[in-house]
Amino acid sequence: NQGVAPVTYGTGTRPPRGDYASARADYTCEQQWSRYTPDDHALYERLYQRQAAQLPGLACEEFIAAVAQLGEPHHIPRFDALSERLHRATKWEVVAVPGLIPEEAFFALLAQRRFPVTGWIRKPEEFDYVVEPDVFHDLFGHVPLLFNPVFADYMQAYGAGGLKASRLQACEYLARLYWYTVEFGLIATPQGLRAYGAGILSSAGELRHSVQSPAPQRLGFDVERIMRTRYRIDDYQTTYFVITGFEQLFDATAPDFTPLYERVSREGELAADSRLPSDRVY
Ligand code: PHE
Ligand code: FE
Repeated sequence: NQGVAPVTYGTGTRPPRGDYASARADYTCEQQWSRYTPDDHALYERLYQRQAAQLPGLACEEFIAAVAQLGEPHHIPRFDALSERLHRATKWEVVAVPGLIPEEAFFALLAQRRFPVTGWIRKPEEFDYVVEPDVFHDLFGHVPLLFNPVFADYMQAYGAGGLKASRLQACEYLARLYWYTVEFGLIATPQGLRAYGAGILSSAGELRHSVQSPAPQRLGFDVERIMRTRYRIDDYQTTYFVITGFEQLFDATAPDFTPLYERVSREGELAADSRLPSDRVY
């Protein structure tokens, strides 16, 4: 949801939560780590412990292995120290932003291998659900897989592809690809289905729901199908798409999307819970 969800999130009447006035032209800002309160750090630790406890059997191994790289679970990580570790692994870094940023700015940062992370943390009463992405969602959900070389390259390619999609007025289609992979993606492993999407991995309830509940449908990854499929921003997903590996994600998105965007716009969109005869059902 970071970046691709409309900046007019939710009702659209609330002003965005962060301090946009102090941000630079590229929307990055200082993390101002010393401004976090002991309560902020304690809340981060509670969120971290709750999610970490649920990962075995539900999150993919690459994610579980990399969570330890975030740093100590006891406080909100310092972005500069985290960036050093990340840069050594995959040449990515994390940069602070005030919150959701415009699409183009978001794509530009990804294309430079800079992942924007919201500085602020939710309030204790938002422990189970926060409308806009906060530092916990952005860090815990997104950053571990940036330590994976193939996924890291996919994210950069997505950013470059986003800048191109903006010129082609195809951002809506590309946003669906982000939603159904980076945010809500599942991966088939020899041990069974596992989650790799940040929206799932940072959610208390959706992690188990996405992998184990009989309610949602789980369909084989198909770029064109995904680009046609609407999504829900206010409830658990009714459809998840399953990749067979991060190489599939990278390879299937490597071709030029220009003719694909034209086809998708002719074919029209599908409801979030639609089912086609061509779907591969897990
Ligand atoms: N190949 C895509 C294009 O030509 C770019 C892209 C790569 C988009 C990876 C998303 C993910 O537009
Ligand atoms: Fe996100």
